Amino acid sequence: MTKKRVLTGITTSGTPHLGNYIGAIRPAIQESLGGDCDSFFFLADYHALIKCQDPELVHKSTLEIASSWLALGLNPDHVTFYRQSDIPEITELTWILTCMTAKGLVNRAHAYKSAVQLNGINGEDSDFGINMGLFSYPILMAADILMFNADVIPVGRDQIQHIEMARDIGQRFNHHYGNYFTLPNAKVDDELSVLNGLDGRKMSKSYQNTIPLFLEEKQLRKHINKIKTNLLEPGEPKNPDDSTVFQIFRAFASVEKSDQMRKDFADGIAWGEAKSRLFELVNSELEEPRERYFELLANPQKVEKLLQQGAEKARSDSKNLMKSLRHAVGLRSLD
Ligand code: TRP
Repeated sequence: MTKKRVLTGITTSGTPHLGNYIGAIRPAIQESLGGDCDSFFFLADYHALIKCQDPELVHKSTLEIASSWLALGLNPDHVTFYRQSDIPEITELTWILTCMTAKGLVNRAHAYKSAVQLNGINGEDSDFGINMGLFSYPILMAADILMFNADVIPVGRDQIQHIEMARDIGQRFNHHYGNYFTLPNAKVDDELSVLNGLDGRKMSKSYQNTIPLFLEEKQLRKHINKIKTNLLEPGEPKNPDDSTVFQIFRAFASVEKSDQMRKDFADGIAWGEAKSRLFELVNSELEEPRERYFELLANPQKVEKLLQQGAEKARSDSKNLMKSLRHAVGLRSLD
């Protein structure tokens, strides 16, 4: 039986936070260690350019994200771990797919539509501030996916539409030129794995409410102390289910530990004490990876080498497929 192929990309435009870890990184690495799937993970640095035109930030984020995944136990011998911009076949495929994509399909993409809508609200021209990268985003993403014939794409809810578009585009190509692409399916993370941030809303870079994944101990404690709580005093029973402190605790704790914490909430644990336990728990899980992380940041050549090896692995697939795709569409040698 061939293993199902799982593929996902991480946009390199920020520093990973606890929400990324619980929602995406930890489950992806765990699944890849299980050995019953063939995992592809890549740094979506072309996607980063759409929103982030600060070269230092894109560069720094690429190192931080790659180092985080490696520090947390991603094993590059067992998965294919690469940087999107190291695979020239992806941009080549993007063009071919662009020519197979109805403009009307892309007009409906949420990210693009909401940018247009926002312009309307602000009384701007509807195209204001919108680059072609934002418009074509779903086609680049379709190329990422179709290039490696991935079956399963683990993504957040906001990305489901993009996977559906990749299916549509792949299907249209297959229908016209022959059966070259596997049609992908989105796998959406369950609600339990979406963490809240400091202010109680979903933890997200755009809300500026994140707890970065790798902070020095003191800083980690400081951040955890900033999590918003209600004003209940020590001794007053507290509801764990509307508490961000408990929600993050549960994401890191064993079932027994989180049941105990639930009881302690009912018994009126003080917020200071609950936060201090949360710190201890998170810190103990991240202590070792944090050391590896800082060591990788200090040795970018190590990370670069692994990415180059990953690119080589990925390209053994992408070069082959691209060769047959070029032939399929009529880009052929004349002799
Ligand atoms: N757009 C995705 C995000 O912002 C990142 C991404 C790029 C991706 N290419 C992909 C995810 C291909 C899955 C498959 O989260």
